[in-house]
Amino acid sequence: MSRLDSFIRRMTSQKILLEYLVSKVNETEGPVLELGLGNGRTYDHLREIYPNKEIYAFDFVMECHPSCAPDADHMISGDIRDTLAFCEPRIGSKAAFAHVDIGSADPTFDLSIAHWLAPLLDKCMTVGGYILTALPLDLPNYAEEEKPEGIHPGRYHIYRKISEA
Ligand SMILES: C[S@@+](CC[C@H](N)C(=O)[O-])C[C@H]1O[C@@H](n2cnc3c(N)ncnc32)[C@H](O)[C@@H]1O
Repeated sequence: MSRLDSFIRRMTSQKILLEYLVSKVNETEGPVLELGLGNGRTYDHLREIYPNKEIYAFDFVMECHPSCAPDADHMISGDIRDTLAFCEPRIGSKAAFAHVDIGSADPTFDLSIAHWLAPLLDKCMTVGGYILTALPLDLPNYAEEEKPEGIHPGRYHIYRKISEA
């Protein structure tokens, strides 16, 4: 498969999965976390599909398209490894949904990200909340949920928090 086809498949899966989770996430109180604002494409989509939720975007710096820049209250700048543990006063409550979009193209670096990210993210999530991630995360107090049809097995993971750790 060409890299173009692979990119299209990944973006299509991401959109299907984000939309698949909306009704489930809306059953739970709490904000949405976008880990990896990047260009702002998925943040902009989250704003469309979650008109009634607060959405907080995380990245080293804000470098997104100007049309989808979060306001100062909703942009948390810095290394997520540093900021995630301290975001609760800003976001006000534990999150109902986290979209993790910070993977790299390097499997070793991805393992390292998954290792520090899982416990930090768990502390930000409310019971009943969902995580959508391309990185497999070791989250013993979560159930891995079924994905909609057509999503390549192993490409994305949906975790739902069952209990506090
Ligand atoms: C694939 S891009 C995100 C794409 C974005 N969701 C979109 O749809 O445009 C990954 C982003 O994650 C950010 N990122 C990766 N690791 C990070 C970390 N440890 N702390 C903060 N930001 C990080 C990168 O700077 C990059 O902007």
